[in-house]
Amino acid sequence: MLLITKALTLAALLALSAAASSMPQVVKQGRKFTLTVDGKPFIVLGGQVNNSSGWPDRMQEIWPVFKALHANTAEVPVYWEAVEPQPGEFHFEAVDQIVLDARAQNIRLILLWFATWKNGVMDYAPGWVKADAAKYPRMIDSGGKLVRVLSPHSEATMAADRNAFAAFMRHLKDLDGEQHTVILVQVENEPGSLFTDRDHSPASNQLFEGPVPASLIAALHRPPGTWSQVFGPESDEAFAAWHVAKYVNSVAAAGKQAYGLPLYVNVWLREQKNFMRPGEAYPSGGATSNMLDVWKAATPSVDIIAPDVYVMDYASYHRVCESYSRPDNPLLIPETGGFGAFARYMFYALADHDSLGFSPFGIDRISGAAVPEGIPGVAAGTSLMDLVRPMLDNYRLLGPALEQIAAWQGTGKLHSAVEEDQITERLLTFTNYEVLAQFGRPIVSYGGTFASGTDRKTGRSMVAEVAPDEFILMGFDTRLRFEPRRGSRSPKAQFLWVEEGTYENGSWKPIRRLNGDETFFELSLPPQGAILRVKLMTF
Ligand code: DGJ
Repeated sequence: MLLITKALTLAALLALSAAASSMPQVVKQGRKFTLTVDGKPFIVLGGQVNNSSGWPDRMQEIWPVFKALHANTAEVPVYWEAVEPQPGEFHFEAVDQIVLDARAQNIRLILLWFATWKNGVMDYAPGWVKADAAKYPRMIDSGGKLVRVLSPHSEATMAADRNAFAAFMRHLKDLDGEQHTVILVQVENEPGSLFTDRDHSPASNQLFEGPVPASLIAALHRPPGTWSQVFGPESDEAFAAWHVAKYVNSVAAAGKQAYGLPLYVNVWLREQKNFMRPGEAYPSGGATSNMLDVWKAATPSVDIIAPDVYVMDYASYHRVCESYSRPDNPLLIPETGGFGAFARYMFYALADHDSLGFSPFGIDRISGAAVPEGIPGVAAGTSLMDLVRPMLDNYRLLGPALEQIAAWQGTGKLHSAVEEDQITERLLTFTNYEVLAQFGRPIVSYGGTFASGTDRKTGRSMVAEVAPDEFILMGFDTRLRFEPRRGSRSPKAQFLWVEEGTYENGSWKPIRRLNGDETFFELSLPPQGAILRVKLMTF
């Protein structure tokens, strides 16, 4: 009898741990983060719908766009004002329908909790919150004027948001706790305050004059003092960041306790905006790069701080990715651009910065519409679908390989090779080989064969070393040459074989072997894209 009980207990334990491991989660091994869904590595190739598209009927028009894009995940808002139109009266019908529709189409969801903060203002708070400023106070600017932002110092507002978010997560658990159509939830949207650097109400001012909390001092390894003493010119912003982050963490913790999905907070960046003044150029108190340490100290219940990356130049794109990819924070890009250079920036994000996902904003706009006049370099009337074609090609090509890409991330064996203005070649160094990626027509000149660059900067690829003499090459418009690493005893490299193929259910599926004309002169990833697997030898 004792034995049977023990056996049952073990079986129950195994079942429990299997169920637990199939929950979406962010796993950290060494320095490497992986998002797992159904127990397998998962990279979000997503799209975010417009702000007012989180309604089932509207989504009916948008689901085909996700299919056409080969996206695996849709990011869709959930509105506090719609979920709780009266205090304590909850309506989840719209959320339910969206989850069921996504599930029926095999698309995963990231739901975005638009509540106390949406882009640094309070527009998605329910009417009963907006209308009762005595109970749910607004922030006051340094001139004593009320602004359209809820104060993070109000226990009543925090409790109301926390209560609603917990009810939503509890509901989600009942609805989706087995299937995990919803894989991540975003808490608030770009929290922080526009129009003021912090709340200047008397109560808040009093707090500001007091000491920085000991837990923050300990986390930052700084000497104690008042906010001004510890943070100097950034004191108002740091004060705001701490209080907004504590508030968001309290909401997140309640939600997580109800249903333990991974949670993230997205960020309106401060990079290169105007004079970079908090509350003017970007919401003050958000998890901007200068406030990331403060946020990490305040948000143990938030798994990821995720930048909305709209910076246009590739150097800034790299810089932002670098600042949010840290030992205590994985990179996830929940919002970014969908056309132009962003199609190649996706290669940086996935291959060089190990992003757990990439998700252009405003996906519904591309269904059928044409671009208006005034977009530099784009003829008016061009269909948006054509404009996003390179991104669409990326998704189509890389989609089947995502599980592998997730496994290669963080190993140092995966690198991008991407063309930029005046950057027509990239030299990558691996264990035994150097790989030269070249973009555009060859130019023979003193010093060797160089590359002219493509007409529209379409050269973008990634190279993974899967064994010391074996590589996977994925991408578009790139010629690839191999040489033994400098100093190798054998000066030349030769293909043992080259295969073109794809991945199916996590395994390599060769389509054909390449030889003859395809490999004699050079190896190329064509404009329409390809995945190649090459095995080399030296001699
Ligand atoms: C960033 C916000 O997070 C989104 O909700 C949306 O407003 C976009 N900006 C618009 O560009």
